[in-house]
Amino acid sequence: AAEKAPAPASGGTRRVLLFPLPFQGHLNPMLQLADVLHARGFHITVFHAAFNAPDPVAGYRFVPVGAGVPAADLVPTGSDGDFAGALLRINERLQGAFQDCLREEVLLEEEEEEGARPACLVLDSNLRGMQVVAGRLGVPTLVLRTGGAACLAAYMAFPALCDKGLLPPKDHSQLNMPLDDLPPLRLQDMIFSTTTPHETMTTCLERIVESAKCSSGVILNTFTDLEDVDIQKIIDGVGVPVYAIGPLYKISSGAQSSLLSPDKTCLDWLDKQEAESVLFVSLGSLASMGQEELVETAWGLANSRLPFLWVIRPDAVQGSGKVGLPDGFEEETRGRGMVVNWAPQQDVLGHQAVGGFWTHNGWNSTLESICEGVPMICRPHFADQMINARYVEQVWKVGFELEGKLERGNIERGIIKLFRGEEGGEMRRRANDLKDKATLCIKKGGSSQTMVDLLINRIMSSPS
Ligand code: UDX
Repeated sequence: AAEKAPAPASGGTRRVLLFPLPFQGHLNPMLQLADVLHARGFHITVFHAAFNAPDPVAGYRFVPVGAGVPAADLVPTGSDGDFAGALLRINERLQGAFQDCLREEVLLEEEEEEGARPACLVLDSNLRGMQVVAGRLGVPTLVLRTGGAACLAAYMAFPALCDKGLLPPKDHSQLNMPLDDLPPLRLQDMIFSTTTPHETMTTCLERIVESAKCSSGVILNTFTDLEDVDIQKIIDGVGVPVYAIGPLYKISSGAQSSLLSPDKTCLDWLDKQEAESVLFVSLGSLASMGQEELVETAWGLANSRLPFLWVIRPDAVQGSGKVGLPDGFEEETRGRGMVVNWAPQQDVLGHQAVGGFWTHNGWNSTLESICEGVPMICRPHFADQMINARYVEQVWKVGFELEGKLERGNIERGIIKLFRGEEGGEMRRRANDLKDKATLCIKKGGSSQTMVDLLINRIMSSPS
């Protein structure tokens, strides 16, 4: 952000190393960033955990880290995802193995490129442990925040809320309290998971902020017109350059690595539906629901009488692991409903038949919905999802939160409000305005495209 004129930025022939987190919502933005850098001439090495390994990309080097560490040690536990605990374990268990891999990679590069060192290592901002290792080996780091700017700004404010005695909350009655320094967030939006101990949360967030401050630059998958206030807070707070270059899935050539295979037949089905008539329902890659919630959702969708495309991952239902749709549901919704294991989500959201998105508000889903001009029904589960949902409802006003118990009547009313209500129409108009802004920011001279040039120059200026 301190830098000014964007110069022509291309022709990097140096190697950039990248290390994503092994989760869907983190792999894709990192691979999209790799794609952007590769298109500008950089050689690419992707370090990755052995589980949830990304699909290979021709011309990239892929290096698995910690092959012997069991995946069960590294994934979130519990139904509302103790994501913070998993993040700490990933750093702890993979750090040693990463040191060996990074050292080898640096040596290999020096051999292959006659003394040249990798230009930098781009880390997921949850990998502070790997940044410490890179520091020891003299490799400069950039961090990629795969979440929104509002989320990082809120994480930066977390210690002050603890110092004020607001976190952890003393009792239930405090949860609705508005946070004066972080409008429109409430105390409850800062509770990332009911199963994560406060100390784990504090350490996890401290490390994320540390990773940003100790880097040579922070890359954000967002755009200025969407989050200018929070981007500015980050610029003021981290003391290193900040590059808002999102939406990455639009600025790249669409690279991604799907952990499940997308069912593309739903696109043919969408072709047969009327414009803006279909509700798309998806909880992303990690969130799950109880069997009773599944049944209520099914009847809520059925009773709305509107077409829907519903993603139910094989592991999306807690408990038995078997997805039990209620008797009669299929007959009731035949012809106007489709259920798939995994969808080509970006294509679905970009399809003219889709008129609404029931989402868990993972950042990628939120951003994709905004960029495709689709208004949202928000049902956040954990981590940053509550913050994202709050912004959707209160700041961008392109959706609303479905609050309270998940119950069929409530769901049906929510769907009707989005598709048939006046408010829903206004949300749709605003979503289309944001879509136009997202389209402009990635064009030549647009804010994100300009930031990509600055970022490339920054990487090129790293001593070889
Ligand atoms: C996780 C956390 O839940 C989220 O809060 C954090 O912001 C990122 O990491 P996830 O649950 O995977 O994310 O959700 P999200 O960020 O929305 O990413 C899911 C990705 O999977 C999206 O890019 C979406 O397009 C893709 N997807 C999802 C599909 O391609 N098909 C599907 O059927 C569902």
